[in-house]
Amino acid sequence: MKKKVRKAVIPAAGFGTRFLPATKAIPKEMLPIVDIPTIQYIIEEAVASGIEEICLITNSYKQSIENHFDRSFELEEKLKASNDLEHLQMIEDITDMVNVVSVRQKTPKGLGHAILCARSFVGDEPFAVLLGDDIVVNRGGKRAIRQLMDVYEETGASVVGVQPVADENISKYGIIAPSKAINDRVMEVSHFVEKPAFENAPSNMAILGRYVLSPDIFNKLEDQQAGKGNEIQLTDAIDRLAKEEAVYACQFDGNRYDVGDRKGFLQAQVEFALNRDDTKEAMEDIIEALGYVKSDKPAPVEEKPACKIFKTTPVNETAADQNKTSQPEAAMKAVEPIEAAQAIAGISNGSFEETAIASTVLEAEEEGCQK
Ligand code: G1P
Repeated sequence: MKKKVRKAVIPAAGFGTRFLPATKAIPKEMLPIVDIPTIQYIIEEAVASGIEEICLITNSYKQSIENHFDRSFELEEKLKASNDLEHLQMIEDITDMVNVVSVRQKTPKGLGHAILCARSFVGDEPFAVLLGDDIVVNRGGKRAIRQLMDVYEETGASVVGVQPVADENISKYGIIAPSKAINDRVMEVSHFVEKPAFENAPSNMAILGRYVLSPDIFNKLEDQQAGKGNEIQLTDAIDRLAKEEAVYACQFDGNRYDVGDRKGFLQAQVEFALNRDDTKEAMEDIIEALGYVKSDKPAPVEEKPACKIFKTTPVNETAADQNKTSQPEAAMKAVEPIEAAQAIAGISNGSFEETAIASTVLEAEEEGCQK
């Protein structure tokens, strides 16, 4: 049944080991991009998308996140006394932004287990999930999670946000096997694999930290066995859900920064500073002083990889079938609009499970795949 998406769950219980020593005493979610903690960008995206209630999944080391969204009486009094109304407003805006509740994940058993901790908060409603390591900027356009909420509210199907990633990065993500194009951005997915080796990946389309899930996911999560890294994986539960009801992927618009990674974090610092009126000039001066040419243009964005589906060859395929020239074309169109639905069904007879991975890699055409 279609329902409005009102609630969001933001897992923030990880130890942030990739950012030690900074994260020894400070939650990684509180590390700032310029002067705003990364978690605030995530919550702003949710609120701007129409989310009304947020549940943070935290642990005992994460109190500063809760404090950040709570009142700070002493600070407010000090700002009032010094008539610093600008900062006072800024602080109050953060507190008034949205109601945030938090639930503790008592043992670190993985992302799937973290989401399960929000079961009573979510109840019987669809809900959004936003991961803190992925900040998405879609200047002038719809926020990433809003794009997924629109798909859910139109179709009633759970939906994960994807973008193509470089081959060498496939093993860092949950990867989808698209089975049917719904339109130029949305596809039905037959299965999901958590962090597969490149050789076993069904595509290069990675789940990048945005989901809208039906509450049925909790029935899967409650008995989900540990998977990759001996953790209870959300991707594995979604894969099981997709066996019972349609699960879609939406290739969302927007530049995504992996701020859980040093390079992505540094890139975000520079690009966000260049895109803010109050820091643009300072960052340009810094770059110029380092010997780079000052320019009015925003910093160059790395070229994005095109979508690829890795050709699957049905195990029971006959030699005659293998020679069909229409197969590569069909696979190429799998991430393209409408007619791809029939095309991809033709490749695998609708069942990717009975297929084995062949070595051929098919690059999707640019249209509809690369932004
Ligand atoms: C998690 C998910 C993975 C997803 C990724 C996105 O992995 O398990 O499926 O692709 O987030 O950033 P993590 O990066 O927490 O290991």
